Amino acid sequence: MSSTDWQEWVVETYSELVEPLEEWLFEQGALAVSLEDNADEPLLEPGPGETPLWQNVKVTALFAGSVSLASIKQTLPLSLLAGNSRNDISTLEDRDWERVSMDDFTPIQMGPRLWICPSWSSPPDDALVTVSLDPGLAFGTGTHATTAMCLNALDELIVGNERVIDFGCGSGILAIAALKLGAQCALGVDNDPQAVFASRDNALRNDIESDKFVVVMPDDDAVGEWTGEANLMVANILAGPLLELADQLISLTAPGGIILLTGVLEAQAAQLIARYQHVNLKLNQQRDGWVLLEGQKPN
Ligand SMILES: C[S@@+](CC[C@H](N)C(=O)[O-])C[C@H]1O[C@@H](n2cnc3c(N)ncnc32)[C@H](O)[C@@H]1O
Repeated sequence: MSSTDWQEWVVETYSELVEPLEEWLFEQGALAVSLEDNADEPLLEPGPGETPLWQNVKVTALFAGSVSLASIKQTLPLSLLAGNSRNDISTLEDRDWERVSMDDFTPIQMGPRLWICPSWSSPPDDALVTVSLDPGLAFGTGTHATTAMCLNALDELIVGNERVIDFGCGSGILAIAALKLGAQCALGVDNDPQAVFASRDNALRNDIESDKFVVVMPDDDAVGEWTGEANLMVANILAGPLLELADQLISLTAPGGIILLTGVLEAQAAQLIARYQHVNLKLNQQRDGWVLLEGQKPN
């Protein structure tokens, strides 16, 4: 192994042990730690500071090639592992990692007008509307089915001058796409400060004027000021928070305004439809087990 190689250490554990295990791995010099569902449970995104909801978690830690992992492995407290779990170290050849991940992101067409394009490549000449977006701190590059369905619906629904709320804005991708498609202004709301930062940063990179796209945490006064104002409300969160937020999302929407909800699995749709009965949710699209529901607030 050359000192420029990387090492990957894969450990299986239970969700309640993820936090101490992660902390321990970083103490040993891990450069990055990623978490994956280890039991084919659907992906449910943890809130800030929460551990994942999956019961069985595959933890992958990346270390520099120079770290003596074999001896560190001997000191791993067994109490941090799932019983009979995988605990493997492997060497990764030194490659141009940035290049590899860049190659995974290419321009994607999301609707008749809209393309999402990483900053290092150019959109096709006939792309009418382009959002420039790179993978970063917050969820939302367009590669996830829920984001892609929202972008597709926005391409169809935005005709010009709408006031849009993107609740759970992540990278800001949906609001930025709405503005580029012709919306008048947008409010982004997210309970993760990194997402608020990422949305503002992505807006700047897309030449969106700061007064057109305000991004705030849910307890900010700006949210209340939008009561009854959104002609289009889009929320890609998860079924649980969407059930809790129902009254607020409906009250922020203008009479006659459209509500798009996703982050909802097919099996959860009926519960959402019942909770949002006031806006008469219908299926707009479904992909990879996820649904996009569309409703309209009565005039
Ligand atoms: C699945 S991501 C969606 C990001 C982006 N809108 C997209 O479509 O790709 C969900 C986002 O909702 C945020 N979120 C989760 N619960 C929330 C809540 N109760 N209030 C505000 N934001 C929330 C998360 O921090 C995350 O950034």
